[in-house]
Amino acid sequence: MSEPLRVAVLVSGRGSNLAAILEATRRPDFPARVVLVVSDRERAPALERATAHGVPTVFLNPKDFGEREAYDAALSRMLADYQVGLVCLAGFMRILGRAFVLAWPGRIMNVHPSLLPAFPGLRPQRQALDNGVKIAGATVHFVDEGVDTGPIILQSSVPVEPDDTEETLAARILAEEHRLYPEAVRLFAEGRLRIVGCRVVVER
Ligand code: GRF
Repeated sequence: MSEPLRVAVLVSGRGSNLAAILEATRRPDFPARVVLVVSDRERAPALERATAHGVPTVFLNPKDFGEREAYDAALSRMLADYQVGLVCLAGFMRILGRAFVLAWPGRIMNVHPSLLPAFPGLRPQRQALDNGVKIAGATVHFVDEGVDTGPIILQSSVPVEPDDTEETLAARILAEEHRLYPEAVRLFAEGRLRIVGCRVVVER
């Protein structure tokens, strides 16, 4: 078997998607390994999850960098040093600039708790409830220069129940995120994702 894909996960908070990826990638037959976790917040619980799995962590403090471009460049250098092949955003609350996205073409993924292109941006579960939709869901997509845009890799839907709160809906969607994200990483690692214009073709 060829060397496993080297994955970096970027986080800012809780890290439940990171945990799902760590759980999946620790299986010996999984074609990818998490080699680095980077946070822009010092006390992100996600960092403890990484440490518990023996994965190196870095807190890259935005205050140490004047401009966003300088932060992105330092991040990019670090990922290159770790010979990363795929960058997974998992609750990473910073927007990555154009130069960063161009430096990692087709190699950055994100998970978002809505059926994109519906409800990009903040509090998508709240947006779903406010718009009265009957179906919500999760999306894993490649990152382009926009916010929560970029070619869609996998999606999964969940029902919106009449008595849902933002919290109950978020929990239902989160379970799908945890299922989809490791699956998207696996497909990428197996070389089965091809970006064709704005679409992702999943090869069998
Ligand atoms: C998830 O809902 C993800 O879709 C969104 O931010 C949340 C992060 O949660 N981008 P966690 O840190 O992975 O638990």
